[in-house]
Amino acid sequence: MNPLAPTDLYAQRRQRLAAQLGPGGLAIIPTSPERSRNRDNDHLYRHDSYFYYLTGFTEPNAWLVLTSEGHCTLFCNPKDLEREIWDGIRLGPEAAPRALGVEAASSVQTLDEQLPRLLENRHAVWYPFAIHAGLESRLEGWLSQVRARVRFGAVCPDQQRDLCALLDEMRLFKDAHELAVMRRAAQISAGAHIRAMQLSARMLRAGEPVREYHLDAELLHEFRRHGSQHPAYGSIVAAGANACVLHYRADAAPIRDGELVLIDAGCELDGYASDITRTFPANGRFSGPQRDLYELVLASQNAAVAATRAGARFTDPHEATVRVLSQGLLDLGLLDKSKLGGVDDVIAQRSYFKFYMHRTSHWLGMDVHDCGSYVEPSEIGQFSERRDPVSGELIKDRASRILRAGMVLTLEPGLYVRAADDVPGAFHNIGIRIEDDAIVTEQGCELISRDVPVTVADIEALMAG
Ligand code: GLY
Ligand code: MN
Ligand code: MN
Repeated sequence: MNPLAPTDLYAQRRQRLAAQLGPGGLAIIPTSPERSRNRDNDHLYRHDSYFYYLTGFTEPNAWLVLTSEGHCTLFCNPKDLEREIWDGIRLGPEAAPRALGVEAASSVQTLDEQLPRLLENRHAVWYPFAIHAGLESRLEGWLSQVRARVRFGAVCPDQQRDLCALLDEMRLFKDAHELAVMRRAAQISAGAHIRAMQLSARMLRAGEPVREYHLDAELLHEFRRHGSQHPAYGSIVAAGANACVLHYRADAAPIRDGELVLIDAGCELDGYASDITRTFPANGRFSGPQRDLYELVLASQNAAVAATRAGARFTDPHEATVRVLSQGLLDLGLLDKSKLGGVDDVIAQRSYFKFYMHRTSHWLGMDVHDCGSYVEPSEIGQFSERRDPVSGELIKDRASRILRAGMVLTLEPGLYVRAADDVPGAFHNIGIRIEDDAIVTEQGCELISRDVPVTVADIEALMAG
């Protein structure tokens, strides 16, 4: 257990949340369960992000209960010498108030006994809906015990509310502590990408066989060497045509001279994710067609960066990206002008989708695809309808979120060219994505992942060294 932010930061978050619960509100927030991997072997434990946001506490088997008056109780594992010999030191309820700044703490073994009492005479119970398996039925059991006491004058909560709605909005705006951790996470990940690029060129120059796992090992080494607890998501290390598989994972395919390698990998540091993609020539030199496509993706990312600022919409970087990619696909002959028309037609008909089938951005934070509404809250309920030009499906376009300073999002355009008869052969099996992490500022955005080169010249120079 290591609360890395000052405990009053978590206390402030709890107070801000408490103030939104309404009179008589009570919030219940469990952390994640431990998960079995195989037989008696568990996955590496990862706390629940909401719970951590409010406590800084990383032990399993813990719950936070918070009232609208701002009183909070932490339920955690009790001290137990025998269990601690096997599983590690527990903070325990006696030490928790001082260590975590919570008002009170109890053994988690008393949860079922205490929760009916804590729920009695409250009006609304808040919890994260549909996240913790079994929570709803456990709550039902506690509420039924309160209801049994109604004839003795107890009041039973008559509202259940989704706590995610409040916490998602809070987590969307990162505070200075969070931004500092995220900058550091991105810096570590950038260093790992550099090492992987250099290793690829070095091994090929030495005539050594290189496989995807060699580069994956280099990433992990660099993450851990700098104190990252684990990768923020399954690293993608994709050689050649594997880069056209969007959810490919680092595997054992050989990395060949003349191919591109796509690496999408980021470390998690103290509960915060980074998310970086670079695509580079395995041997350190882009071929002509590789360079043409790479320059196009980079130009589209530059357009996305230019469109990212407070006051812009979340969809603006995507739209800027799509325009640049569509024009470039026409210019390079990947899309046929004579059949498809100009750039506006390509966008209107979604013809670019064959090569660019994902969105340009997602929120980034404690979770790699972080929480936060993509719809502008002040314009909720407003939408326009259109038919998708490809599927014919009726689409409701809701008002996209207005970007504000302190939000963090990725900018990650790509092009994925599978071999096909109607695609020039020079581009077959090239997959390129370039992904950076951006903090929205009033004037524009701060790219926190740019310690790893992104231009053709800088990548070639790095890999030549
Ligand atoms: N690495 C996951 C993503 O880029 O969304
Ligand atoms: Mn991403
Ligand atoms: Mn990524």
